Amino acid sequence: GRVVVVFGGHSAEREVSLNSGAAVLAGLQRSGVDAIGYDFAEDGMAGLEALKPDIVFIALHGRGGEDGCLQGALELAGIPYTGSGVMASALGMDKLRTKALWQAAGLPTPESIEMTAATDRAELIERLGLPMIIKPVHEGSTIGITIVRHLDELEKAWQDAAKYDARVMAERFVVGSEFTLSVLGDSALPAIKVEVPNGFYDYEAKYLSNDTLYHLPCGLEPEQEAQLAELSLSAFAAVGCSGWGRVDVMRDAEGCFWLLEVNTVPGMTDHSLVPQAAAHAGIDFDELVVRILADVKE
Ligand code: DAL
Ligand code: MG
Repeated sequence: GRVVVVFGGHSAEREVSLNSGAAVLAGLQRSGVDAIGYDFAEDGMAGLEALKPDIVFIALHGRGGEDGCLQGALELAGIPYTGSGVMASALGMDKLRTKALWQAAGLPTPESIEMTAATDRAELIERLGLPMIIKPVHEGSTIGITIVRHLDELEKAWQDAAKYDARVMAERFVVGSEFTLSVLGDSALPAIKVEVPNGFYDYEAKYLSNDTLYHLPCGLEPEQEAQLAELSLSAFAAVGCSGWGRVDVMRDAEGCFWLLEVNTVPGMTDHSLVPQAAAHAGIDFDELVVRILADVKE
């Protein structure tokens, strides 16, 4: 059947999604799949249905594409699609609700609080300590995120996050190293350690800079990497995710892991993490996209 790769859209991650979509489409076509691309910004669901897809490969990041809305529309239209279903997609896009599920499941995630205009700033700092991290609740690619090291940076951080989202959260900042664990089907791919010399793994470091270091193998002892993989698979399952995705995790100076978030439509650009992890497991990009597609329950 015909596969339509959906990308672009209107979210703040549009540019990332254009790159992910182009890469996925090229990979499917090289693999001999009958695939075409569709920028969801063109004509939304009506334009997509007019293309008569047998399956949709979702390469849309952020709100409208990764948050359960598109998944719900495809369910109603009877069109199978890649990745997580409606509920897990919606939950995964909401970092606070994701963390509440992890807490309920006894999985470690740094303490966080929703931050509004009315939140007492001094109390917030007393509770979470500094540095803390301020984030939009429903955003990806580190958009609108600031690490706050001093009280006088807090207000601007809050305003920056509030530009992108009606809900903002403050989270205890875990000092340590950043890892990411990609999930393909029911399995974990090799963990990657992300290192940004002199910096923070922000939008620039993710997509624009060539200085970001991706350590593969990640440098953990085998037992620790196995523990990270098990934790990430549990985190993925606790949110009800399926198909493929990526869990982002911090490791503190004592060696404890802390879950940050799950991405149900992770980036597939040439800087992205899932393709690198797959390649390290011997799965090249073309095989990766074919396997994501093959996992779709029709
Ligand atoms: N939200 C971006 C695309 C990622 O997690 O890879
Ligand atoms: Mg994310």
